[in-house]
Amino acid sequence: MAEYVLIPQDALLPVPDGVDLTGAAIVACAVGSSYQALVRIARVLPGETVAVAGAGGGLGIHAVQIARALGSKVVALTSSADKIDLLRELGAAHVLLNRKGCYKDLLDITSGRGVDVVVDLVGHPDSFDDCFRGLSQRGRYVLAGQVYGRRVSVHPFFVFSTEKVITGSSSTLMSTFMHSMDLVQQGKVRPIVQTYPFAEAAKVHADMDGRRVMGRAVLVPPFS
Ligand SMILES: NC(=O)c1ccc[n+]([C@@H]2O[C@H](COP(=O)([O-])OP(=O)(O)OC[C@H]3O[C@@H](n4cnc5c(N)ncnc54)[C@H](OP(=O)(O)O)[C@@H]3O)[C@@H](O)[C@H]2O)c1
Repeated sequence: MAEYVLIPQDALLPVPDGVDLTGAAIVACAVGSSYQALVRIARVLPGETVAVAGAGGGLGIHAVQIARALGSKVVALTSSADKIDLLRELGAAHVLLNRKGCYKDLLDITSGRGVDVVVDLVGHPDSFDDCFRGLSQRGRYVLAGQVYGRRVSVHPFFVFSTEKVITGSSSTLMSTFMHSMDLVQQGKVRPIVQTYPFAEAAKVHADMDGRRVMGRAVLVPPFS
């Protein structure tokens, strides 16, 4: 944890009226990276069905809201039962507990067709297998996170025969950051933050490892 950071001025945005500092602190990464994956990479269209794996995490909880704001039908996959209500409240039409075999639920929800887009923030082989299986013909699979150092694998036949697209999304462009800040200021995306005093830095890590953080954890320095 650094007391000071040096950032190029053109990578900064003023905090708009009506946006609080802890919310603004997470816009570039947690909101921006999700916006980038959904808009710039997956090119989500209104009416499409979008599944978000790792929906209760810092990126996922904002990906759910952005996908909803884009007019898509959102399926949130979470491993945490206590995040279900909030994910519904934030716009998920369906919330599924991420378990082996949940591709069947993705197929059921879409009358057997599969979802149009998966934004996978977990990158675990089990969640990849299920979400890839639950993706439609020519669907777009965006790998945007990896919480474990494990490889995912895929049988080439299931890629070429279905013309599914596997792609990645990395970081946030300045334009994406600006659009994300607009969504927050307009109230279309609510920053979900769990704040901790600086002295509790170790607890933040323990809570993140235990998947107890709802959205993004923000450490609040004593001088703020
Ligand atoms: N592409 C980019 O530009 C970009 C930018 C920033 C971060 N990232 C990466 O994206 C990933 C997510 O970041 P984050 O900030 O959202 O992290 P995070 O807040 O720790 O969230 C990760 C979420 O993944 C889910 N998860 C964890 N272990 C799981 C398991 N075994 N099975 C199923 N789900 C599991 C949990 O969500 P539930 O509680 O809902 O299950 C957890 O909250 C990280 O790998 C991070 O490095 C990518």
